[in-house]
Amino acid sequence: MRRPFIAGNWKMHKTVPQALELVEELRGLLEGEEGVEIVVAPPFTALYPVAQVLKGSVIKLAAQDCFWEEEGAFTGEISPVMLADVGCAYCIVGHSERRHIFGEGSREVARKARALLTHGISPIVCVGETLEERERGEALKVVGEQMEGSLAGLSGEDMARVIIAYEPVWAIGTGKTATPQQAQEMHAFLRQWAWEKFGGDVASTLTILYGGSVKPGNIQGLMAMEDIDGALVGGASLRASSFAQIVKGGKG
Ligand code: PGA
Repeated sequence: MRRPFIAGNWKMHKTVPQALELVEELRGLLEGEEGVEIVVAPPFTALYPVAQVLKGSVIKLAAQDCFWEEEGAFTGEISPVMLADVGCAYCIVGHSERRHIFGEGSREVARKARALLTHGISPIVCVGETLEERERGEALKVVGEQMEGSLAGLSGEDMARVIIAYEPVWAIGTGKTATPQQAQEMHAFLRQWAWEKFGGDVASTLTILYGGSVKPGNIQGLMAMEDIDGALVGGASLRASSFAQIVKGGKG
């Protein structure tokens, strides 16, 4: 049995006072929720203060990215050690905005994922095709290659702690959601991929999130699909009421 998993990716939004206001409201709306993993990913500057508010809460903390080294002369970077220190349980890696705006490739994503696992943080590894790739009929091929590259060097044991997020680039922040059927097709492909690579135990327990314009109105249709275990929510996670509705809808 896979537990529903709903994560809010705040991206480059929220000052510290705004982040605290949001997370305090979320605590009020979601405290006591059971049977669902609830995660928020504030920007780096808000991680520590948000962690203080989340002490003793069911809501877990994630970062949006990291570097793979522990420390050193890497101006502007944040290490997994630092993220563990402020209480991150998860860290998003390979988000399509990192891949497309900042030119990150799957090789870097895999290094980050491995470094996070070493420090007890579960990576949320993002994959997804562009509209052109989908229209060329290459969505499965592209996403399969991203999985191969982004999970390179991980063992089956590592994979038990990895979360996958399928986020079609054409659905992110566009208001255009993949249909539940389109998402299910990809999720089934991803689970099959994990089956062939790591075996049945890993594949059947692997949490695969869908991301891309998830809202209170479409979460239930997505979660009704066999291989969709949760959501990575951008825009709709910036307001407590809509994120809380998605969490409750995601629980079914
Ligand atoms: P969106 O973003 O929900 O605003 O489409 C999702 C994401 O990029 O994680």
